[in-house]
Amino acid sequence: MKIRSLSLSGFRNIKEAHLTFSPDVTFLLGDNAHGKTNVLEAIYLFARGKSFRGARDAEMTSFGQEGYSLTLSYEKEDRREELSLAVKGRSKTRKRNGVLLDRQSELVGSFRAVLFCPDHLQMVKGSPSERRRFMDIAIAQCYPVYISHYSRYAKNLEERNALLKAMQKGVFYGEDMLLVYSEALADAAAEIYLYRKKYIALLKEEAARVMWELSHGREELSLSYEGDFEGEEYEDKEALRAAYGKLFTKNTERERAAGMTLYGIHRDELKISLSGLSAKDYASQGQQRSIVLSLKMAEGMVCRALTGESPVYLFDDVLSELDEGRRRFLLSGMQGCQFIVTGCDEKVLSETPGKVKIIKVKEGTFTERENEE
Ligand SMILES: Nc1ncnc2c1ncn2[C@@H]1O[C@H](COP(=O)(O)OP(=O)(O)O)[C@@H](O)[C@H]1O
Ligand SMILES: [Mg+2]
Repeated sequence: MKIRSLSLSGFRNIKEAHLTFSPDVTFLLGDNAHGKTNVLEAIYLFARGKSFRGARDAEMTSFGQEGYSLTLSYEKEDRREELSLAVKGRSKTRKRNGVLLDRQSELVGSFRAVLFCPDHLQMVKGSPSERRRFMDIAIAQCYPVYISHYSRYAKNLEERNALLKAMQKGVFYGEDMLLVYSEALADAAAEIYLYRKKYIALLKEEAARVMWELSHGREELSLSYEGDFEGEEYEDKEALRAAYGKLFTKNTERERAAGMTLYGIHRDELKISLSGLSAKDYASQGQQRSIVLSLKMAEGMVCRALTGESPVYLFDDVLSELDEGRRRFLLSGMQGCQFIVTGCDEKVLSETPGKVKIIKVKEGTFTERENEE
């Protein structure tokens, strides 16, 4: 998958721009606060359906404007596709190849990208929710139906928690309703668990291989997805749904006392270990960087294995965080893939094989420059 162009209007500090990208490496070069990340945010909106910075439309709309519009044009399986998003006041339109889409989630799954930004370096040491988010975003791009299971789960969880809270306080007693939520939750949990389990089984292999190469055979990376059923294997959805059902109905006493749901996929963990030691507890700064880099590269490889095409890699300010060896490994190991990277020093790309397109970013405006190696 390769991006051809991106048009932006009224987005963040970008008044109007039409950018074209190299099929290999494009470097958005500029000082801080000039609009580099804004471009990646716009691109990634089409992959994830929402801002990776958690911004709402009003925040992404240029100050003083009524709305913004974005059009992304890319090649997919040798065909040209176009996605567009236009926000005006409270109304929003999304289109794929000119055809209106009803919901934002319908955007997800057409254009696919792997994003790596400095915040992701926290993934190893941060809370389990960060690792769950990583899995969820990656899975949703490969299996868009995952989003509907996930939304169903989130909605039921919220309602079930509100009910448990009311029961805890004694203001409401609703056993029947609790049962309805528990069954719906068990069904969605079983779907999500199986997707995550399957995804991690694929990711694990690729990530371990990347880490092995990156560390010249010194580090063994291992991933495991851990949920409520330690040691038990469920491959079949019905059996799993029954197991979740049991979990949600047999423990209501405790849950009512706690006023919340104590089991389920919202508490699961992606456990990462390096050469036998828990990465969360023991990985050094350098090891954390290598782990995250391995996970991101593996994310792209699994995406390619599942969809038949490499996603676009968006690297925000992270190249300068990686040492030369890791940088070279990354850019030479992924030849044939499209990279859009940002930074304030073009020296980070001195090792890149082939041609790099440099776009200079200044106060929301862009000047293109071809860089002959
Ligand atoms: N809604 C907005 N309207 C206008 N400017 C904005 C808006 N949101 C952010 N900005 C500006 O965008 C700039 C930050 O852009 P960003 O892409 O994060 O910078 P960087 O080049 O460091 O990645 C800041 O100058 C900020 O004031
Ligand atoms: Mg930035």
